[in-house]
Amino acid sequence: MYYNWKETTNTEELKIVCNLIKNGEIVIFPTETVYGIGANAFDEKAVGKIFMAKGRPSDNPLIVHIADKRMITDIAKEITEVEQKLIDHFMPGPFTLILKKTDKIPNIVSAGLETVAIRMPNHVIARGIIAFSGVPIAAPSANISGKPSGTTVEDIRKELEGKVSAIVDGGETEIGLESTVVKVIDEIPCILRPGKISVEDIRNVIGVAELGNGIFKPIDESEEVESPGLKHKHYAPNKPAQLMYSENENDLIFEINRLIKSYKGDVILLGFEEHREKIIISEQRFINLGSKENLEQIAQNLYSALRKSDELAGQLIIIEGVKKEGLGIAIMNRLLRSCGYQYEEF
Ligand code: TXA
Ligand code: MG
Repeated sequence: MYYNWKETTNTEELKIVCNLIKNGEIVIFPTETVYGIGANAFDEKAVGKIFMAKGRPSDNPLIVHIADKRMITDIAKEITEVEQKLIDHFMPGPFTLILKKTDKIPNIVSAGLETVAIRMPNHVIARGIIAFSGVPIAAPSANISGKPSGTTVEDIRKELEGKVSAIVDGGETEIGLESTVVKVIDEIPCILRPGKISVEDIRNVIGVAELGNGIFKPIDESEEVESPGLKHKHYAPNKPAQLMYSENENDLIFEINRLIKSYKGDVILLGFEEHREKIIISEQRFINLGSKENLEQIAQNLYSALRKSDELAGQLIIIEGVKKEGLGIAIMNRLLRSCGYQYEEF
């Protein structure tokens, strides 16, 4: 079933959606980051349906979503002082914390790990669904495994229609990139996946914070990783993609034009609106990421733009990169992975 809650949440429909969750079904719903596919986190069988729908590898654990901090005691234990401070400051919000799990959380959720990821979304529909269902909701991003996360229902329906019991439409998601995932190791918060909450934001609260390895480089299959999600292919269009960046704008435009001219085939460009006139690309093959000055806008547009680039005729996708600072860290992390680390900096 499709429910349109773009303007207001319908309480009758909310009851129906929450009954589906209680009865072990899976449901797509919006959050402030990206859409999620949710199931009762305590129901092993229901969670299994998520892995089936996404084609997700079973070694990649899910995030458990809560509506209220009191729900944490059922899910996690032995919370340290640093972890508590992070909960106090960053929940609700685009922030996920890895904690030691209780026995109530089935192994399928944590992919057999001793830990569990917890997030309290700052979104009225997400919170309403969790609260009225009365259980924490395990939910990965709404997309087929390996594809960009769903940020609009139009994109999601193409991939997941018919594979879930309900889709709740809350409009385009505000942030457009998934939450910042943090694990505290030896009292130091370590960012396993960058997001809107930056390393500086966390340093301002805790005093220290580190970026995990694997954010700008591929992880070797044999390497031990804190976040299993880092090992898997992600955010990737089907066509080959080339990411390009320079601190010097003219150099970047020169190099992009050179590649377009020499490439034997049709190129699609994901670029900034300020560069549209300076790059030799036809209107139909230019996909606007937004203004180069506005990282928030770029983040919000990113996944829909990547999906669109796949639908256009052409053999190569060229993507303009951004500076790796602030929200630019999260944007570059996703772009590097989406192009399989085909990256050139001039
Ligand atoms: O913004 C978000 O976080 C969205 C919305 C729906 O809340 N969810 C999301 O879930 O992005 P997913 O499953 O696509 O990404 C979860 C990430 C994966 O990289 C996974 O490996 C990591 O969190 N993760 C989950 N549990 C973990 C654990 N116990 N230890 C380390 N990493 C974990
Ligand atoms: Mg995902």
